[in-house]
Parts: sequence; C-alpha cells; structure tokens
Amino acid sequence: MRVDKTLRAARDRLRHAGIAPDEARLEAEILLCASLRRERAWLYAWPEARLNTEQARQFEAAIQRRMAGAPVAYITGQREFWSLNFAVTPAALIPRADTEQLVEQALTLLQDRPRPKVLELGTGSGCISCALASERPDAVILANDISHSALAIAEGNIRDLRLDNIEISPGNWFEGITQRFDLILSNPPYIASGDPHLQRGDLPAEPGIALASGESGLDAITHIVENAPDYLRADGWLLFEHGHDQGKAARALLRQRGYRRIATRRDLAGNERVSLGCRPESSATPPAAPARR
Ligand SMILES: C[S@@+](CC[C@H](N)C(=O)[O-])C[C@H]1O[C@@H](n2cnc3c(N)ncnc32)[C@H](O)[C@@H]1O
Repeated sequence: MRVDKTLRAARDRLRHAGIAPDEARLEAEILLCASLRRERAWLYAWPEARLNTEQARQFEAAIQRRMAGAPVAYITGQREFWSLNFAVTPAALIPRADTEQLVEQALTLLQDRPRPKVLELGTGSGCISCALASERPDAVILANDISHSALAIAEGNIRDLRLDNIEISPGNWFEGITQRFDLILSNPPYIASGDPHLQRGDLPAEPGIALASGESGLDAITHIVENAPDYLRADGWLLFEHGHDQGKAARALLRQRGYRRIATRRDLAGNERVSLGCRPESSATPPAAPARR
C-alpha cells in the first residue's frame, strides 16, 4: 500500500482505539518512520512510495501494540529529550518535555561554577544527567537510581552519547554517597498512590516505582529535602521537579528544613514545575552522614 493511504488508515484505527485525533496522526507518522527507518519529511516527500512486505508487517505490529496501550516510545524504543536521542524500555520512565525545565534551571544555577559536582537522584533513562553533561562537559556528575534495570538503560545512553563525565551510583537515594555537591537535582516519583491518572495514558505501562510516592505523592520529595543538606557544599543547591499542584507543599518543606533563597519555577504551560533552595546555614557540619529514613 502507498505511504499516504497507509497513514490515513492507521490514523483512523488509532482514533477508533481512543487516541485523540491530532495525536493519532502524529503517532501513526512516528510509528511508520520507525518501520521504514526514515525521517518524517520523507513521508511528505514520497506519499506515493509503497511499503514492502516486511515494512508493512512491522508497521502493522506497531499499530496493534499501540492500540493495545503500549506507549509510542516503548514501541520505537526511543524518545528525544533536550534534542538528544535516548533509548527507552519499560524499565525506565519515558522522558517528558516538562523535565527540560529542570535542566534549564540546573544550567542557570551552575553558570558561574567551574567544574561543578552534581548528584542526580533517580536518573531513570539518564536523560537529565546526559542533557546536563552535554551542556557542561566540565561538570562531574553522579547519577543514582534504585532500579538496576533503569541504570542499565542509563549506562547505554551515556555510552551512546559518548559522555565521559557521568558515573552511575546504584542505591536507595543517598545510600552509598559520601561526597558533597554543588547541585543535587531530581525528578523523583511524585504522584499520589491513589491518583486515577496512574491508570491513564502511558502511565500504566511505565514502572510504578518511577511514578508513585506514598499517599500524598510527597514521600520521595520529603526524604530528599530532609537529607540533601548533608550532601551539599556550603552554597550548594537542591533542585527538584514536582506536580503542578505541589509547589506550595514543596516550598513549605524547603522552608521547614531551613533552606535559603527558596523559589519555584513554572513550565511552558505556566504550571509550577520545579522548586529549589540553597543549603541551610546550619548544615555546615561534618562529612556526609548516612541518609535518614
Ligand atoms: C520520575 S522517574 C525520573 C526518571 C528520569 N530522571 C526522568 O526524568 O525521566 C523517578 C526515578 O526515581 C527512581 N527511584 C524511585 N525510588 C527511588 C529510590 N528510593 N532511590 C533511588 N531512585 C529511586 C525510579 O527508579 C525512577 O527512575
């Protein structure tokens, strides 16, 4: 069948499967590009081109997986973030465009610091650390995650992007960390465990440990805010992503722990998305202590 007719038929099937009309067309194009190993512009340049049997078989399998609820990124095995290409599998969260705000803020906080030391907590696919490392080759980055299967994905991405300034650190948040950092940043799990959104869109296919964090959604953020001062240099920053309705709670947690220069930044949609604070004065204490639970 011709490319243009194949696309129209796939779009209609995805729409009938419940995918929004504008997304159905885009998703059909992305999946066809993956089956043909072509760029999207090629689809428009060659609408009359015909799929061979193997391409048609691959595309049909992809459409069927999508109609059954598999996220596009898990079908193609990749997702772009910060204009870099990341391999993704169901072992790691699919990088989100909103999270680029965290990278932007990190770059701003580090702009006057040569050779900054950075700790990323919960690196997943490694997208945040890789984006930062690509912009700041002088940074020394430690990327943590409790999930060994996610860290395997991150290691592959670090290798594929040829970044030599990121090290991997498996563990439960600060477990095994003995240094102090200029910046600790995280996109931790922050969805409330009973939130019905966990059953919608791509979320059911993504790792639960990457999404939910206790009844309020704030367990991981609370733990990180509480413990980070023990791992920050005197003028070090903590920076983390949170839900659009968690800005107030995030600032309250930072205030209670004594952080200075607390602020929240909005994402492109205008939602409060990342909060930050400078290490409390009172934490100018001895070397890194073990993480409090
Ligand atoms: C929201 S995902 C973020 C992944 C990636 N940084 C991103 O932005 O796409 C949260 C990550 O935190 C990790 N995580 C959850 N609990 C953890 C823990 N106790 N210690 C370390 N990492 C944890 C998950 O495995 C997951 O990779």
